[in-house]
Amino acid sequence: MDGNGRWAKQRGLHRTQGHKEGLNAAKAVVKKAADIGIEYITLYTFSTENWKRTSDEVGFLMSLIKVHLRAELVFYAENGIRVLCMGNIDGLPEDIATEIRYTMKATESFEHTTVILALNYGGQDEIIRAIKKIPQESVQTLTIESFSGYLDLPALPQVDLLIRTGGEKRISNFLLWQSAYAELFFNDILWPDWNGDCLIEAIADYQTRDRRFGGIQK
Ligand code: IPE
Ligand code: MG
Repeated sequence: MDGNGRWAKQRGLHRTQGHKEGLNAAKAVVKKAADIGIEYITLYTFSTENWKRTSDEVGFLMSLIKVHLRAELVFYAENGIRVLCMGNIDGLPEDIATEIRYTMKATESFEHTTVILALNYGGQDEIIRAIKKIPQESVQTLTIESFSGYLDLPALPQVDLLIRTGGEKRISNFLLWQSAYAELFFNDILWPDWNGDCLIEAIADYQTRDRRFGGIQK
């Protein structure tokens, strides 16, 4: 979800206003994902690199996340949305970590769509943290499948479609392991201007791809 700051700048607003609008876009996209029966959608909400921003902006993002989680419990219930988080949750301020645990618990029985918030998340960090969990005696027998079991969310399937908004064309440390064969979709629309129709457009594009996973076309 990229482009909140530029969206605000274009309107002469403070960057935080862009994040606020970005939250509305996220809700619209998640609603559409649930409506069309997407099983998993992961939102890259705060990266391990985002701490480099000013403390004002970081603080604003943290409080936005905190307030949002509790405020949207009804939305999650109405749409059958289970919320999970990935990332280094222990490295977040305690009040946010508590709110995250509360939201995960409150939505754990919802089965329609799983929304994963990547918070204090970096793909490299996730892989390093996974490696540290591996018992010494299991290292030599590791497989791709068994290694996946040490990641933040072992049950998370491989990524089918990775979307980056706002014009940049890079992965920026998102789901590195899980995106091994992801189809990539980029567009120039700044995240606050995204809505459900944009998601449909991205999925329509995805449906034209020929996924061979390194094999040859049948
Ligand atoms: C992405 O928008 C949002 C988050 C990190 C939460 P940016 O804040 O990166 O917006 P730009 O790239 O400065 O426009
Ligand atoms: Mg950005």
